[in-house]
Amino acid sequence: MKHKLFAAILISLAVATVALAAEPVTPKLTDKLSRLLQQEMRSIQAAMGTIHTAMVTGEHEAVARNAQQIHDSFILKQSMTEQDRKDLMAAVPNGFIKLDKEFHKLAAELAEAGKMKNTEKQSQLYSEMSRACIACHGEYVSDRFPGLNSTL
Ligand code: HEC
Repeated sequence: MKHKLFAAILISLAVATVALAAEPVTPKLTDKLSRLLQQEMRSIQAAMGTIHTAMVTGEHEAVARNAQQIHDSFILKQSMTEQDRKDLMAAVPNGFIKLDKEFHKLAAELAEAGKMKNTEKQSQLYSEMSRACIACHGEYVSDRFPGLNSTL
């Protein structure tokens, strides 16, 4: 009996943690960070569209170039002052930074697959990158994208 109660408490704690993790980061961003992120997101979106066309038409060099551009756009490294960096770290949880890093690492791998003219690998990485968009938006941007639930 005690065990069951204990298990129930554990489960409710776990559920509470998941709910906390799904809290959107957007309201915590400074205006400047929000603007920078939105700019970065729009250029990523444009590059993903270009990559898709290039990938399905065998334009490997364009796949490589655009994927490299996504990789280099890493918001943590670019056009951010020391203060912006501090603001970002204060606004977002570690999981967000981790997802962002993983996403940019996938972009680097996609650039490599472009250089290797490996269409199969490009397609696989493209899907993985799309999953990363959904995972981050579902977990950290649920206020703006309520259509994505955070159970992914
Ligand atoms: C690590 C987290 C993360 C990843 C990965 C990510 N995004 Fe986003 N995205 C955000 C955040 C945060 C916002 C909301 C920014 C705001 O409104 O302040 C956003 C907003 C956007 C927007 C709206 C931009 C606007 O004009 O307001 C688009 C489009 C977008 N993302 C596309 C993508 C695409 C495409 C991918 C994957 C190829 C992607 N994102 C991957 C975090 C992420």
